[in-house]
Amino acid sequence: MTAVEARPVVPVAPAAEPADDGLRFPPGFVWGAATAAYQIEGAHDEDGRTPSVWDTFSRTPGKVFEGHTGDVADDHYHRYVEDVALMRRLGLGSYRFSIAWPRITPQVTPDALGPVNAAGLAFYDRLVDELLAAGITPAATLYHWDLPQALEDGGGWTDRRTAERFGEYAGVVAQHLGDRLSTVITLNEPWCSAYLGYGSGVHAPGRTEPASALAAVHHLNLAHGLGTLAVREHAPDLPVAITLNLAWVRPEDPSSAADVDAARRVDGLQNRVFLDPVLHGRYPADVLEDTAGVTDWSFVHDGDLATVHQPLDALGLNYYSPTVVRAWDGVGERAEADGHGSSAHSPWVGSADRLEFPEQPGPLTAMGWPVDADGLRELLLRLHEEAPGIPLHVTENGAAYPDVMTADGAVHDDDRIGYVDGHLRAVHRAIEDGADVRGYYLWSLLDNFEWGYGFSKRFGIVHVDYETQERTPKDSAHWYAGVIGRNGLPG
Ligand code: NOJ
Repeated sequence: MTAVEARPVVPVAPAAEPADDGLRFPPGFVWGAATAAYQIEGAHDEDGRTPSVWDTFSRTPGKVFEGHTGDVADDHYHRYVEDVALMRRLGLGSYRFSIAWPRITPQVTPDALGPVNAAGLAFYDRLVDELLAAGITPAATLYHWDLPQALEDGGGWTDRRTAERFGEYAGVVAQHLGDRLSTVITLNEPWCSAYLGYGSGVHAPGRTEPASALAAVHHLNLAHGLGTLAVREHAPDLPVAITLNLAWVRPEDPSSAADVDAARRVDGLQNRVFLDPVLHGRYPADVLEDTAGVTDWSFVHDGDLATVHQPLDALGLNYYSPTVVRAWDGVGERAEADGHGSSAHSPWVGSADRLEFPEQPGPLTAMGWPVDADGLRELLLRLHEEAPGIPLHVTENGAAYPDVMTADGAVHDDDRIGYVDGHLRAVHRAIEDGADVRGYYLWSLLDNFEWGYGFSKRFGIVHVDYETQERTPKDSAHWYAGVIGRNGLPG
């Protein structure tokens, strides 16, 4: 373009309405933001809460960045009124939060749920009522990784009793809050709970036992089924969903049979090992084969798959980054560029252990995760084809960047705006291509405890000063409020 062509045309008189040929989302599209209990609540020992595996893990030296814990986090437990007011100012239509199991039945043991803790439940009562009064629909996740420590002491997710107790706990929540929630999500990202918790050990409880990771996969699937049944028993009209972090996995060299096979193995262990039982009531034959040297899957009992295979009212997808994989010959240093493992302990088990994640070109987020929004579109279309008739929600999407608060007290996070803008365009394209996507929840409302990274990574559209607990909406929050207001993106 020449300088002459670039010269702006000055209108004679300003138009009455500024032209806006931006993208519009379908009427009723749900604009939300998401958080999770351990990452924001704090109040770790108040009102009867007992420790979760993350309380234990974060107190174990060397496990979490600089020994950070969720003891105080964003102090949301005491500041939820202020936080809901903030959501209202942003214009959020929905808020996805999680319920801390150790607050609801703090005396749970592997064999008995124990009494319901009224004081713990009361916090969620107050939160839900505050949201409804602000016109924000509450979408609650029942399990976002804060397993009661007493259950881990009895075997955790390697033991089917954990799934049974989860079903009972789900029933308690449905009974008390089911009349006011808009959706209940049984599990958040069971892949992380199973493989990072029991495979690579980079998440609580920090175990590195390949066979246990697969037992955990099954018991998490079983927990989803039992939880769904219990919710429907107590709150038949409450929509039930599960949230999966599916991988958009591609072979580094599509012409290499070995790389294509590596991608198949990741697809099996990350995607199909959850999708197949939930949607179709079976485990994929190739996954059973790939892992035959690790376990015989005898923890799958007769009738379990029928329990897991419950009709879903919605399906949640969390998406951040693409996954490029190549076969690894087992020799030399292994490339683990996906942030989910180390050479010593890979979350990948069985023959799927023989693969690596080559470093990708930028742009990268502060997590080192490559940015490629097309994966979100592709995964939404895949789910649309594989789960026809089930409404889809993007239950998490967002990015960490090295935010700086400037002298004027603002955070100019253009990189985050660019990331979210690009991913929303991908969602819009998926909708145009036929996917039934009903909503989008930005991760996250607030800067918070980013698991093994502690407070060193900031995903929020609202900055949190951890010394003063002051909340400051970043530029991305103002931008997102505009998106919500116009139900779409600017042209
Ligand atoms: C997914 C998890 O659900 C959430 O807890 C986490 O903070 C984000 N990804 C970012 O890593």
